[in-house]
Amino acid sequence: MATNKNIPEVEWEYAPSLEGTSHIQLKKKYDLFIGGKWVKPSSGKYFQSINPANEEVLAEVAYGSEKDVDIAVKAARKAYNEVWSIMPAAERAKYIYRIARLMQERARELAVIETLDGGKTIREARDIDVPLACNHFFYYAGWADKLEYAFPNRKVESLGVAGQIIPWNFPLLMAAWKIAPALAAGNTVVLKPAETTSLTALKLAEIIEAAGLPAGVVNIVTGYGDTGAAIVNHSDVNKIAFTGSTNVGKIIQKALAGTSKKLTLELGGKSANIIFDDAPIDQAVEGIVNGIFFNQGHVCCAGSRLFVQENVAEKVIAKLKERLKTLYVGNPLDKNTDIGAINSKEQLATITKYLEIGKQEGAEMYQPACTIPAKGFYCPPTLFTNVAQSNRIAQEEIFGPVLTIQTFRTIDEVIQKANNSPYGLAAGVWTEKGARIFNMANQLNAGVIWANTYNKFDPTSPFGGYKESGFGREGGVHGLAAYVKFV
Ligand code: NAI
Ligand code: MG
Repeated sequence: MATNKNIPEVEWEYAPSLEGTSHIQLKKKYDLFIGGKWVKPSSGKYFQSINPANEEVLAEVAYGSEKDVDIAVKAARKAYNEVWSIMPAAERAKYIYRIARLMQERARELAVIETLDGGKTIREARDIDVPLACNHFFYYAGWADKLEYAFPNRKVESLGVAGQIIPWNFPLLMAAWKIAPALAAGNTVVLKPAETTSLTALKLAEIIEAAGLPAGVVNIVTGYGDTGAAIVNHSDVNKIAFTGSTNVGKIIQKALAGTSKKLTLELGGKSANIIFDDAPIDQAVEGIVNGIFFNQGHVCCAGSRLFVQENVAEKVIAKLKERLKTLYVGNPLDKNTDIGAINSKEQLATITKYLEIGKQEGAEMYQPACTIPAKGFYCPPTLFTNVAQSNRIAQEEIFGPVLTIQTFRTIDEVIQKANNSPYGLAAGVWTEKGARIFNMANQLNAGVIWANTYNKFDPTSPFGGYKESGFGREGGVHGLAAYVKFV
């Protein structure tokens, strides 16, 4: 482990401040939520969902098969034809509002379950995932009876049944991103959560049940990749929305080629965070930490490639190292924790593999001294300096708390380096000059560009990528457009 001789090693100690779990109710076993009922999987198979912070089993979850997916799609079709598509839009809006309100009432429970099941810090689950998920339902509820204003002078219709497949990094939030606009536009849904993080989607199913949503409007089918593939390949699904790895995104795009199914893909990223010499350095360092470390790097738009202007690089790197020493890695339920657990053993293995690759490629690795819990999956915050543009650690998505640092001299150079990536999801620009921000925003190939901030989200704002980061937009009116057809 490398240390910086100029900075004294500081051991940060906090008294633990654990979020309570006594208000959480988890069933031992979760069935599939299809047609408004909890139904057993046709195979009779269940799989375990563990807490990656301590490897304890939280619950068993039904393994949905092709047959179950078929039953769910039929339920969604029936609900579409007989209830949801013919209901007055203002009535649909009331149901979506009701879901938002019930989620808010159960916010604390949802946040704690999100942390237990996925390993993210309670701070993130409580302050970001859950409030944003509620806001997506509130926001799209508002559009449900105003589609003619969303798309002026154009006549729109719903698509039908939407199949939605989501990943493990923002389980409840991704469910909200997918379900809320689909319902607002008048579609019904079959959604599959990721296999390591199904529990908040199942809690959302309970909320949907409590909201009295007509049976079959939202169906939650849990399972693995083959369950997702069964949704993608079902002949009676009109739209697929997928968030996850670029590899699976490519498989889905191939599978849908030549069909009439609409598709949106939100895939990986290797986003550039760019610091100019006139940037507010302390805020920028905080922005870097927020961009990649506070979330274990489990964000598709994580600012995983740092570009620092050469004349301030030494200062920025020194301050960053100092800040990393104060980050608390450990129990995600502790309100002091900055970096929680890596989502799964497999993901930790992927990250560890990249740490080795980085060292073999000749980059210099820095990790602050920190104590890591004996059980569970954890990775200390990691910096790589002396990184070449062609290095795999600078090109490939690692999806962990690992930052590569490169320097630049001119604007043209940094634009060229930042755009030299198969991905194009997001970017951050830190500078005092407004004109430079606009110039950079015009030239960077990224769907979202943050100026003097990073990882800020709002339901009104569209999100999505270029190149291998996918296509289509989620959020805002753009996100609504993905669930309608123009007639
Ligand atoms: P993944 O893409 O395999 O999983 C995402 C979702 O797709 C899960 O619900 C999974 O069950 C489902 N799925 C898997 N195979 C499928 C198929 N053939 N057809 C339909 N659905 C399928 O991602 P995984 O393996 O969990 O993570 C691998 C890498 O993907 C990560 O290391 C990271 O780089 C990237 N990733 C990107 C995310 C993003 O937000 N863009 C989220 C999660 C992972
Ligand atoms: Mg889990």
